[in-house]
Amino acid sequence: MASPKDILVSLFFAFGLPLVSALAFPGAVGFGSIATGGTTPFVVTSLADSGTGTFRDAVSVSGRNITFAVSGYINLASPVSLSSSITINGQTAPSPGIGVMGREVSASSKTNIIIRNFRMRQGNLDTDTGKSAFNMGDASNVILDHCSVAYGVFDSIDAVGAVNVTVSNSIVALPIGQQFGAHLETGPATWYRNLWVSAHNRQPLTKANTQYINNIVYNYQAAYTVANTGGDFSHDIINNYFIAGPSTTSAGDDYFQIDANQQAFASGNLLDSNKDGVLNGAAANTIGSAVVLSSPWNPTSQGLATLSAADAYTSVIASVGASPRDQVDAFVISTVQSLGKTGAIITNQASTGLANNGYGTL
Ligand SMILES: *[C@@H]1O[C@H](CO)[C@@H](O)[C@H](O)[C@H]1NC(C)=O
Ligand SMILES: *[C@@H]1O[C@H](CO)[C@@H](O)[C@H](O)[C@H]1NC(C)=O
Repeated sequence: MASPKDILVSLFFAFGLPLVSALAFPGAVGFGSIATGGTTPFVVTSLADSGTGTFRDAVSVSGRNITFAVSGYINLASPVSLSSSITINGQTAPSPGIGVMGREVSASSKTNIIIRNFRMRQGNLDTDTGKSAFNMGDASNVILDHCSVAYGVFDSIDAVGAVNVTVSNSIVALPIGQQFGAHLETGPATWYRNLWVSAHNRQPLTKANTQYINNIVYNYQAAYTVANTGGDFSHDIINNYFIAGPSTTSAGDDYFQIDANQQAFASGNLLDSNKDGVLNGAAANTIGSAVVLSSPWNPTSQGLATLSAADAYTSVIASVGASPRDQVDAFVISTVQSLGKTGAIITNQASTGLANNGYGTL
């Protein structure tokens, strides 16, 4: 008979959790869930760009577990560089929540970072076209959960060289420069229950072993891509919904530039290509020219795919992104809910028509 400890151990394996380390937070999933973040309490008390009690001050020292006594936008005058071992608890901000606008947030080359319920809206206040809304290039052990990333200039999320990453329950929308979602190389990486809206491509571009589960992609020109260059990777692509919109010129580019060097397990994915205002997709489980895997490359993938693609749509619409929803996210969600009728790939956040030069008020 199995001892209680054996049962516990097998339960941990069944759910794909690391045996020794705690989760980043209750409910954290995927490769970034091993992040432990910071433990030293620090309270952000000012929306100013810099100085005592600001966000920039908070992230300047590693080991901090950051909470917010203020809400609204922090208008960044220059990029903010995170230290390692940082937790950003955006969910602690009073309503209507907390976010940054105008410059890049960077975890480049850092490790052990947890970011929750945080809005990152770069936009054209940033004239540096080489910067992204969030940069985790060469970083490791990073998890973003219930974040809202919009108006990225280079990429929404740049993650070249990133190891052990999760992006979950997050909105990645309306990139304005290269009009790209996320670019990840190295990995492994988990993309789970995200909403990707109105981008030209890279939702994501992933040159890495990848879990892509319960994502919703709307109004894409190309969605999941490997870009046909260098590297043999494995991809678990399960129960995602691709939905064409006004900017979708070729709905069949839901999977884009995926050559025979790739291996993919694909199941339960749907494509709604007809832009008719009704969610009525059909099966879409052919992943370019990838070699077909008969079972997931990663043993945790199937256990994460608890929702069908249709149920993922309902769940993502209800709960994705930072909470409470602000004007930018409400705009994004309403676009998706048109199911083919509205949506545009934009070059300037102001063209959303939202106040505050398109950043919306927070
Ligand atoms: C960090 O702060 C959050 C919010 O107050 C709290 O829930 C969490 O337990 C803290 N984590 C650690 C490791 O101190
Ligand atoms: C990535 O996670 C694995 C555990 O899944 C760990 O062994 C490895 O050290 C991590 N890599 C880095 C760079 O921390």
